[in-house]
Amino acid sequence: MQIHIEPITDTSPVTLPEPLGFGNLFTRRVFTRRYEAGRGWHDASIGPRNNIALDPGAHVLHCGQAIFEGTKAYLRPDGRLGLFRPEANAERFNRSAERLAMPGVAPAEFIAAIEALVALEHAWAPRGEGASLYIRPVMIATEATLEVRASRSYLHYIVLSPAGPFFASGFQPVAVRVEEQHVRAAPGGTGAAKTIGNYAGSLAATEAARAAGYQQVLWLDAQERRFVEEAGAMNVAFVYGGTEVVTPALSGSILPGITRDSVLRLAPDLGYAVREARLDVDEVLADITAGRITEAFCMGTAAVIVPIGRFGRHARDVVVGGGVAGPVATRIYRALTDIQYGRADDPYGWTRAVEPAVSVVHGAA
Ligand code: PLP
Ligand code: COI
Repeated sequence: MQIHIEPITDTSPVTLPEPLGFGNLFTRRVFTRRYEAGRGWHDASIGPRNNIALDPGAHVLHCGQAIFEGTKAYLRPDGRLGLFRPEANAERFNRSAERLAMPGVAPAEFIAAIEALVALEHAWAPRGEGASLYIRPVMIATEATLEVRASRSYLHYIVLSPAGPFFASGFQPVAVRVEEQHVRAAPGGTGAAKTIGNYAGSLAATEAARAAGYQQVLWLDAQERRFVEEAGAMNVAFVYGGTEVVTPALSGSILPGITRDSVLRLAPDLGYAVREARLDVDEVLADITAGRITEAFCMGTAAVIVPIGRFGRHARDVVVGGGVAGPVATRIYRALTDIQYGRADDPYGWTRAVEPAVSVVHGAA
C-alpha cells in the first residue's frame, strides 16, 4: 500500500483546549482509501480532514452498511506515541466486515494506515491522566443504490481525536441501570460486530437511563432477559470475594472487547483468578447485596476500566463495593494503563511505539 500524502493548508501550531472532553475534537488530517468491486482497495491517501462527499443515495445512508474500530495512541515518557494491540483491532475490523458483507482490509495495511496518520499528527497527542489520541477507523458503503444487497464500493477512513477521559469524572464509580425494555443484540444478530446500527439501537435506552440519573445501561440477553451481557458500550466484570474476576462469557451477542481480553490475561498475573460465565442478573444483584460480589467494573478502550458504584433495577438501587472504586479495579486499571502509557514493562508484547514523522509534518512527502 502506497499512501499519498497531501499537504494541508492549516499548519498553525496545535493548541489543545482544557478540559479536552471526549470525542468532539479532531485533528486536521484524515486517512482515506477507496474500494471498488473488481478493483479492490486503491488510492490510499492522507490529506486535509474535509467533508466526505456522498451521493444522497449512498448505501450507508439507507442500509447502514458500516463498521468502525476504536483504539488509542498513548504518549509515553520518552515522548513517542504507543499503540496498544492494534492487530486485535485489525482482526475485529475484519470480523465485523465479514458479518456486514463488506470487504476485508489486510491487517498490516490497517495498522500501517494508523501508524502513518498518527506519526503525522503526533503534535495533537495530549498529556495527562486518561488522555490519548483516540483513533477511529471506519468503513462505509458508498455505492449509490437503494437495492438491499452488499454495496460494490466502500470508503475506509481514519480520524483522530485528542481525548480526555471518556467519563469527565475519570476513574470514579458510575451508576448503571439494568435495561428491562430494550436489548442491544440477539443471538445470530450483529452484537459481536462493531457496526453502527448496534449503537443507534442503544441510544433510546441510554438516554432514558441518563435522564433517570444513571450513566450507562446494563444489557441483558435477548432471549431470557436474564443474563448479563454488557454495560453500555463496554464489557463488564464482577469481583467475587475480592479475589476472582468474573465476566460474561462471549455469547455471540457480546462484543469481544480487547480491554476485556487484556484483563483476562493480566489479572492472573496480579494474583486474581478469572472466569468467564453466564451471569444471572438476579443472582448478581443478590451476591452484591450479600457482599459476595465486592466490586463491579466496565472495560473498554475509551474508558479503560471504570468502577461501577451502583446498579438500578425496578426503581431500586443496589450499591456495590460501598459505592467507591475498589482495590481490584484500581490495581487492574493501574497495571493496564502503566503498560499502555509505556510506564511499565510490557511482558505481553501489546504495545508498539510510533516514531513521529517530523520531516513531513507540514506537507509533501
Ligand atoms: N462493547 C461494546 C459494545 C463496545 O462498543 C466496546 C468498545 O469498543 C467494547 C465493548 C469494549 O471493547 P474494547 O475493549 O475492544 O474497546
Ligand atoms: C469503548 O472504547 O469502550 C467504546 O465503546 C467506544 C465508544 C466511544 C463507542
